[in-house]
Amino acid sequence: MEENRPSWTSRLTFILAAVGSAVGLGNIWRFPYIMGQNGGAVFLVLYLALILTICFIPLFAELATGKITKKECIGAYESINPKLKFFGFLNPLTGILISSFYFIVGGWILEYICLSVANTQIDSYETFFGFLTQNAFTSCGFTLIFLFICVFFTSRGIKRGIEFANNVLMPLFAVLLIGLIFYSLTLPNAKLGLEYMFKPDFTKINAQMFLAALGQALFTLSIGMGALLTYGSYIKEDKNITKSTYTIIFSDTLFALMAGIMIFPAIFSFGLEPNSGAGLVFVTLPYIFSQMPHGNIVSAAFFVLLFAAALTSGISIIEVPIASMVERMKMTRTKACSILFIIISALSIPAALSFGELSNFKLFNKTIFDFLDFSTSNILMPVNALFLCIIAGWFLKIRGNHFINNKVLAFLFDIGLKYIVPIILVLLLYIGLVK
Ligand code: PHE
Repeated sequence: MEENRPSWTSRLTFILAAVGSAVGLGNIWRFPYIMGQNGGAVFLVLYLALILTICFIPLFAELATGKITKKECIGAYESINPKLKFFGFLNPLTGILISSFYFIVGGWILEYICLSVANTQIDSYETFFGFLTQNAFTSCGFTLIFLFICVFFTSRGIKRGIEFANNVLMPLFAVLLIGLIFYSLTLPNAKLGLEYMFKPDFTKINAQMFLAALGQALFTLSIGMGALLTYGSYIKEDKNITKSTYTIIFSDTLFALMAGIMIFPAIFSFGLEPNSGAGLVFVTLPYIFSQMPHGNIVSAAFFVLLFAAALTSGISIIEVPIASMVERMKMTRTKACSILFIIISALSIPAALSFGELSNFKLFNKTIFDFLDFSTSNILMPVNALFLCIIAGWFLKIRGNHFINNKVLAFLFDIGLKYIVPIILVLLLYIGLVK
């Protein structure tokens, strides 16, 4: 069985795939919108603090757990101790729930690509985005197309689909983002956007912001649903994964900051509301493009590259349940992909309709879409990360010296994995949900 498992062709392929998993809609779409809803700069401080101080620990532990056990999530936990199987199972489950809203946003990207290519003139992008998300037919249709593309690539195996997107398209995307940042900074009132992003007002801080920052940090780094564990399990050679951990964190944070510096000046320049929710980027960006010479071409290029970023992340999300179905239930990859396609479609259609027909249907005061986004990022991912740290630290006995040669830092890593990160996760969950 072990010999039949897929594996990365090289160390570079693995790093690129892991970075491809991390850099996605979480950086460009979710980061600005969650930051806008949580007070701007204060949120950024909390988010960066969490990334720099604790997030690298579960990230490394997740990759290491995969690499050591060489199994998909459920098998990985089960091989450590059969009683832990349930905690492994939570990972593909979280993956399926994330998929059911992630692919909707992917569908919006496809719609914007079509729109840019058609060079459609629009007066108000707020109104337009409202129409777009309320139209049941296109909204569900594009979601399913995006889902289909992801499932198609995944069904062909982990390497072939992802390599091109990562090697060629990601660097191009970074270059385009830098160009757009310069443009955005020349807009009138750009300074207000930068102040909103970088000048924290700590009087605005509240308990929910901590959990929102944690949820965003985990979501954007792909921690806490087994994507990195599964990718780690495909590492063949005995290379250390410390460098990969740094590379993932560095590139992901860079992309998020670039997205913020591109978006916030434009938000203030066009008089939009930073706290307007999930449509923020999809309303702001078209305004930027509409002001530019040949804006529709830049817009098409941008959304195609964003599509590639979303695709490599989407693939990593569905790879988790697929790996479990293939390895545990002994399904062929194609069969597993087809079944998963049906399951995710069934879940994402009501979520897509929650902008229109089902907008009055609320779960805990949230629309289906918002509920899925909130409950996965702010509850399930922290909970999974918590179990992962405990299991990796106490049962699998991953030690700091696996991470770093320096004795003092290795010791701090040990304490972090076994005590500090779990305590912080519990604390943030408590203050965010209970208080
Ligand atoms: N990190 C991805 C993004 O930023 C989303 C993701 C979440 C991918 C969880 C895998 C696992 O878009």
